[in-house]
Amino acid sequence: MTAAESIVIVGAGQAGGWVAATLRNEGFTGRVVLVGEESYAPYERPPLSKSLLAGERPIEKCYIRPPVFYTERDVDLRLGTRVEEIDTVRRRIALSDGERLAYDKLVFATGARVRRLKLPGAELPGLHYLRTIDDCLAIRAALKPGARVVLVGGGYIGLEVAATARKLGCAVVIVEMQRMVMARIVPEGISRYLAELHRGHGVEILTEVGVAGFERGSPLRVCCDGGRNFDADLVVVGVGIEPNVELARAAGIATEDGVVVDEFGRSAVPGIYAAGDVARHFNPLLGRHIRLESWQNAQNQAIAVARGLCGKPVAYGEVPWFWSDQFDLKIQIVGLPERWGEVVLRGDMAANRFTAFSLADGIVNAAIAVNTPLDIRFARKFIAERQRLAPSALADPQIPLKTLG
Ligand code: FAD
Ligand code: NAI
Repeated sequence: MTAAESIVIVGAGQAGGWVAATLRNEGFTGRVVLVGEESYAPYERPPLSKSLLAGERPIEKCYIRPPVFYTERDVDLRLGTRVEEIDTVRRRIALSDGERLAYDKLVFATGARVRRLKLPGAELPGLHYLRTIDDCLAIRAALKPGARVVLVGGGYIGLEVAATARKLGCAVVIVEMQRMVMARIVPEGISRYLAELHRGHGVEILTEVGVAGFERGSPLRVCCDGGRNFDADLVVVGVGIEPNVELARAAGIATEDGVVVDEFGRSAVPGIYAAGDVARHFNPLLGRHIRLESWQNAQNQAIAVARGLCGKPVAYGEVPWFWSDQFDLKIQIVGLPERWGEVVLRGDMAANRFTAFSLADGIVNAAIAVNTPLDIRFARKFIAERQRLAPSALADPQIPLKTLG
C-alpha cells in the first residue's frame, strides 16, 4: 500500500467508521473517503432501543468518534450521499451528487435495512421502524406516559423497545408471529422466561398471531389475524433486517444473504472487501460462513479489514457475542449454534441471575448469561475450545467455572 493509494468505504455506520479510524491509526497515509447516506457521523445503534430512546443519553454520546475526528485525521467524510454505482473494472464509483471517484481498494460497509411489512395500511402515519437516529427520535417523541404502543415482532427490537416504553409509562402489546419471542436468538426455555419477565412488567404478549393490516382508528388500529384489534398511538415494527447487497450484486460481486468474503474480509474480486452486518464472512473458529448482526462484529471485523488493507492481515474469527438490556436484566449471549443442545442451568432463574449453557452432543456451543457477566469469559473459552463438560459440574455453582475445562 503506497501513500498515493485511495480507499473508498461505502457506508458510514459503525463498521465504516471503524475502517476509516483504524486505517489512520495504523498509519495509512493515502486518501480515505467515507461515504454515508445518513446525515450523522458514524454512530453506534445499541442506544437507539435503550438509553437514547429513553432520553437518558444525548446523540453526541452515540458517535464512535467525535465528528471533528474525521477532519483532523484527513478522512473525507461525505454524509447525506449515496454510492449509486461501482465499476470494478475501472475502479470508479458514482455518487448520488453526480461526482465520480476513483479508488484502489473499496470496502462495503453498507449494513442492513429494516424489513418492511407489505400489508394494507402499512404506510399510515404512526407506524414506525427503528434503525436510525431519526427513527429513534420520531419514536421517542411519541413515547409519552399512557401512550398505547403496539410492537409488531417479538425479537430484539420488540423486547427492548417494550422494556423502554414500559419504563416511560406506556401501555405495551407485542404481536409475534412465531410460537416464541426471540426465537431466532434463544432456546425455548429462555424465550419462555423472557416472555414471563415482560408479562410481569405489564407487557401483553401475543404469540402465533399475525398482523392482517392497519386502519385509521384512534389514531391507528392494528388488525390481527383471528379478529383481535388494538388501538395504538404508536406502532413500532421490528420484523428483522435485510443486508444491503444490491450495489455489490450489480457490480458483479458474489452475494448470498450478504457480500461473501473470507476471514480477512476479502471478496473474490481483487481490491473489494466487506465488513459488518453486510458481510457473509468465513469464521475460522466455527468453520463456516456466517453473517452477524452485532456491535462486536461491526467493530472488530472492520478493524481486522483495515489492518489487512495496511499490509497487516489478521484473520477475524471470534466467538460471536451479543447483549441486550431489558428491564433490570443484562443479557449476554455467546456462540451462534446451528442447533441448541441440552440446556444446563447454573444459578437461579427466579432470582434473575443465571447462566444457561447449551451442550450439543456434550460440547458447549453457546451460553446465555443473565446478570452473570463474569461467566461470559469462561463460556467464550469453552465454546472456542469446543469443551466437553459434565452437565452436573456446569450446573453446580459451588464449582468455579475457572476450574472446569
Ligand atoms: P449499519 O449500522 O447498518 O450501517 C451501514 C450504513 O451504511 C448506514 O448508515 C447506511 O445508511 C449506509 N449505506 C448503506 N448503503 C449505502 C450506500 N449505497 N451509500 C452510502 N451509504 C450507504 N448489536 C449488539 O450487539 N448489541 C445491541 O445491543 C444492539 N442494539 C441495537 C439496537 C438497534 C435499535 C439496532 C438497529 C441495532 C442494534 N444492534 C445491536 C446491532 C448493531 O447496531 C449492528 O450490528 C451494527 O450497527 C452494524 O453496523 P454496520 O456498520 O455494519 O451497519
Ligand atoms: P429479529 O430478527 O431480532 O426479530 C424479528 C422478530 O419479528 C422475530 O421474532 C420474528 O418471528 C418476528 N416477525 C417476523 N415477521 C413478523 C410479522 N409479520 N408479524 C409479527 N412478527 C413477525 O429482528 P429485529 O428485532 O427487527 O431487530 C433488527 C435488527 O436489529 C437485528 O439485526 C438485531 O440484531 C438488531 N438489534 C439488536 C439488538 C441487540 O443485539 N441487543 C437490539 C435491537 C436490535
